Amino acid sequence: MYDWIRPVLFKLDAETAHGLTLYGLDVAHRSDLGRFVATPPQDLPTEAFGLHFPNPVGLAAGLDKNAAHLDALGALGFGFIEVGTVTPRPQIGNDRPRLFRLRQHEAIINRMGFNNEGVDALVRNVLKSSYRGVLGINIGKNKDTPNDKAADDYLFCLERVYAHASYITVNISSPNTQGLRDLQEEATLRRFIETLREAQERLGSQQGARKPMLLKIAPDLSEAELDSIASVLLAANVDGVICTNTTIDHSAVASDPHGNEAGGLSGKPLFVRSNQVVRGMRQRLGDRIGIVGVGGILDGSDSVEKMDAGAGLVQLYSGLIYRGPALVAECVDEIRRQKETRDAG
Ligand SMILES: Cc1cc2nc3c(=O)[nH]c(=O)nc-3n(C[C@H](O)[C@H](O)[C@H](O)COP(=O)(O)O)c2cc1C
Repeated sequence: MYDWIRPVLFKLDAETAHGLTLYGLDVAHRSDLGRFVATPPQDLPTEAFGLHFPNPVGLAAGLDKNAAHLDALGALGFGFIEVGTVTPRPQIGNDRPRLFRLRQHEAIINRMGFNNEGVDALVRNVLKSSYRGVLGINIGKNKDTPNDKAADDYLFCLERVYAHASYITVNISSPNTQGLRDLQEEATLRRFIETLREAQERLGSQQGARKPMLLKIAPDLSEAELDSIASVLLAANVDGVICTNTTIDHSAVASDPHGNEAGGLSGKPLFVRSNQVVRGMRQRLGDRIGIVGVGGILDGSDSVEKMDAGAGLVQLYSGLIYRGPALVAECVDEIRRQKETRDAG
């Protein structure tokens, strides 16, 4: 079905198409036409950071920033859904246009800037929805909060979302909030993560249910920076890491009319680099810490390659724009096929 809708959507401005698609998914879901949108895959049960997933293919953060479309997205067969990034207070994000398709590269550049309705609105939406699958809530800081106060914003969001999330992602890797990625610097990160880890354990005891906390990192990190992040994750016993967010390296798309737009690049050109980060993190972390691999998965074999690099779970975003929701089942089926072949051999 997506094959004939896509040319229409691609004639529209990317953000208009995005809104229209989500609206269409909601309408289809409510009118029971959802089964024509995508056939969900058979289960492929997967365990990671103490949680059970019906399959290892999830929706990446940023597509449903306010958790406003959980029911419709939940019907597409994802093994888990991550919503957000959400900030303490609502913010409008950067001026439009701020989302660009680079079609010949199967890529996207975005500089959305954490546009969202604020954490309280997100929680209200989660409570209204009937989605009962694994839910990640991705948290960030407001644009006007200085980095030395950033931990307060993350703590504020962590407290608000803790009871409603299956896991929480701490996003310090968006290139579209000035200075955010500086939080990845070792000494700053150590203090920051310790503060959040204490709150995570305190909330877990108070609420009688401990929720895993994951850190989402950038692909634009040197080997030395990966060393220091890995050492912080190990020392603080963080549950998991999501590799990676979008890249600021646009060299692969320099020839594209939109190649020089400011923002983070995702999709096909990110695939190799994000896999390198997954592999590098797996080598540094051993089996102690779960890795979610995200970046440039455009077909089933890409998802297998991402798992082979060391990810226990994968996530999709740009691939959904280019391939539609059928990509979810394609990835699950290919991961299953590879697993069966290997188990048999
Ligand atoms: C339009 C857009 C908005 C995004 N917003 C967020 C966000 O709010 N928080 C976040 O952690 N990642 C965000 N991302 C990054 C994705 O979650 C993902 O890490 C990245 O796009 C790489 O995966 P992909 O190549 O499959 O798209 C966004 C990506 C896109 C394309």
